Amino acid sequence: MRPWRNRHLSIALHLIIWLTILVICWNIFRAGDKPRKDKAKDKPTEVLWWSSAMSWSYDEIRTCGIHKCRFTNNRQRLSQAMAVLFYGSNMKMHDFPLPRLPQHIWALLHEESPRNVPFVPFNEFLRHFNYTSTFSRHSDLPLTTQYLPGVSELTTMKYFNDFYTKSFHFTHVIFLQSDCDTMSGREDYVKELIRHIRVDSYGKCLHNKDLPPSLQEDYLNRMYSTELLNFFKHYKFMIAIENGICNDYITEKFWRPLVAGVIPIYFGSPTIKDWQPQNKSAIYVDDFPNAAALAEYLLFLADNQTEYDSYRQHKLNSANNIDNKRLIENIMTRYYQIDETQKEGSSLFQKFECAMCQRLASSEKYKSADVRHYECPLPPIHAPLSNKQEPHHAEDWRSMMEVGRCQAQLLDNFFQANRSFTQEQFEQKLYEC
Ligand SMILES: *[C@@H]1O[C@H](CO)[C@@H](O)[C@H](O)[C@H]1NC(C)=O
Ligand SMILES: *[C@@H]1O[C@H](CO)[C@@H](O)[C@H](O)[C@H]1NC(C)=O
Ligand SMILES: *[C@@H]1O[C@H](CO)[C@@H](O)[C@H](O)[C@H]1NC(C)=O
Ligand SMILES: *[C@@H]1O[C@H](CO)[C@@H](O)[C@H](O)[C@H]1NC(C)=O
Repeated sequence: MRPWRNRHLSIALHLIIWLTILVICWNIFRAGDKPRKDKAKDKPTEVLWWSSAMSWSYDEIRTCGIHKCRFTNNRQRLSQAMAVLFYGSNMKMHDFPLPRLPQHIWALLHEESPRNVPFVPFNEFLRHFNYTSTFSRHSDLPLTTQYLPGVSELTTMKYFNDFYTKSFHFTHVIFLQSDCDTMSGREDYVKELIRHIRVDSYGKCLHNKDLPPSLQEDYLNRMYSTELLNFFKHYKFMIAIENGICNDYITEKFWRPLVAGVIPIYFGSPTIKDWQPQNKSAIYVDDFPNAAALAEYLLFLADNQTEYDSYRQHKLNSANNIDNKRLIENIMTRYYQIDETQKEGSSLFQKFECAMCQRLASSEKYKSADVRHYECPLPPIHAPLSNKQEPHHAEDWRSMMEVGRCQAQLLDNFFQANRSFTQEQFEQKLYEC
């Protein structure tokens, strides 16, 4: 009786095992087969750069993840294109692909501040875009921390000078800038600061000292070269004033001193405190009524190690170097950061193309862009000068942004009318605005 039952059982077991193996094999076979079959009939999705500044002809098929796209700047391909890409700083007001086909996703890559294209920060303009990559955390592909190479640079002790070594060199504030006329009133502010504390200025603006010859090229080409950071580290403070003020617009001006163990004197993104590595990592210009009050505080810090080092916890607090979850998360999930080694495929443009390619393949709905994708307080704000003075060209910058507002309104009208227009037509209307 017993062996008989066992025999049955063993046959049943064998059958089950074989059946399971068969099912698994069948599934593997089908899974492996499917993409191959799709690929054969898959034509690459077309993505068109709309940029008159690209004078060379560009036409490339690339695979992004598992999706294949053709990237081109050949305007003949407009009707086949699924997405049209725009590069912010190069946009021309009278040059948009109109009439716009229903399938056209408009994608905007704009990592810079609005000084070249003042119509961008307005909803009337932004709402025509389905996909953006800007410095704003609200954009589809945020570039907020693009100028920070990585976490290890923030925490490294490689460029760290302790308080006493710095004091021995008796060097206080470094300023290194070659764009002297900015919306943020950078130079006007530093001019006031210089009256109260020694500032070594190595750039073109307010130049009073020469960089060592070996650094003169590095400083423009390699923002994070070892030589440059080793030069900065002797200083206690570094002026870090952005050229334009927009939420989340943060450049190397903020990160570089942090990497070198120097305290940044920052003015720029109004949201900057969301991005510092610790809750007190920089000195913020707008926490002080004027440059005199700031200088007084700097002189106090420069003489008090405890107070000074309390700003350098990202270096010194090895148990908890970076106490900012938002910053860590951003760095872990960002799609792009500057890369001085320039690896193949790592340029901002290539990454943006691929992100668009993959996005086109997803079934997720698009949201229209809005001002949060490029938010710059208007009229432009500037660093606080004594006696409520205005920076030199404040009036010019204000009126430039007002013209930008008109331009955005006009573009909105033309986009809605869904027809192309000439430069003359645009300028005629702008004149009336
Ligand atoms: C714009 O014009 C194109 C070409 O005539 C047309 O296919 C498209 O539907 C129009 N878009 C809108 C929103 O009317
Ligand atoms: C893209 O944005 C335009 C303008 O806001 C809108 O008309 C269009 O429906 C959007 N496309 C998609 C696929 O959401
Ligand atoms: C910074 O963190 C310390 C310790 O966690 C806390 O006591 C302090 O209130 C914080 N300061 C600010 C400005 O959040
Ligand atoms: C440094 O500043 C703290 C207050 O933050 C103070 O208690 C301390 O006495 C100061 N040290 C020196 C050497 O002035």
